[in-house]
Amino acid sequence: MEKILRDELVRKAVASKKKAYAPYSKFRVGAAVYMEGGDVFTGCNVENASYGLSICAERNAIFRAVYAGNRKILAVAVATDDHSFITPCGACRQVIAEFATPTTTIILSNAEGKTKTVPFRKIFPVPPALEKLKKTKK
Ligand code: THU
Repeated sequence: MEKILRDELVRKAVASKKKAYAPYSKFRVGAAVYMEGGDVFTGCNVENASYGLSICAERNAIFRAVYAGNRKILAVAVATDDHSFITPCGACRQVIAEFATPTTTIILSNAEGKTKTVPFRKIFPVPPALEKLKKTKK
C-alpha cells in the first residue's frame, strides 16, 4: 500500500476519533476502512449505558461501507489515545474477516501519531473451511 494513501487513511481515523461517544470507558477510537474501488468509510466507537450494546469504531465503519455497496476491505486504520498500539477486538476481527482479502492490511495509530502496520492474516488466520463458506455467499 502506498505511503501517501496510508497516511491519508490514518488521518481520517484520527479525525473520526473526535466523534467517539465514549462516556463510560473514556476510550476514544476512530477507524477508517479503505475499500476495493477506492472509497473510504469512517467510524467511531459508540457506547451505551447498557455496556454490552456498545459498538467499536471498526465495525461502525465497516457496516457503513457494506451498506454503501462495498464488500472488499483492503485496509483498516485504527486510531486511539493510547500510547501502545491497540489492535481490533475479537468481534471486529471476525467482521473484518468476512470482507477481507488475503492481503488486507491493518494500520494502528497511537496517541503520538506513530503507526504500525500488520497484515490482517497475521492477527486472524483464516481456516480453509471459512474461505470455502465465503465463496458461496451472496
Ligand atoms: N474499542 C474500539 O472501538 N475499537 C477497538 O479496537 C478497541 C476497543 C472501543 C470499545 C469501547 O467503546 C472502548 O473502545 C473501550 O473498550
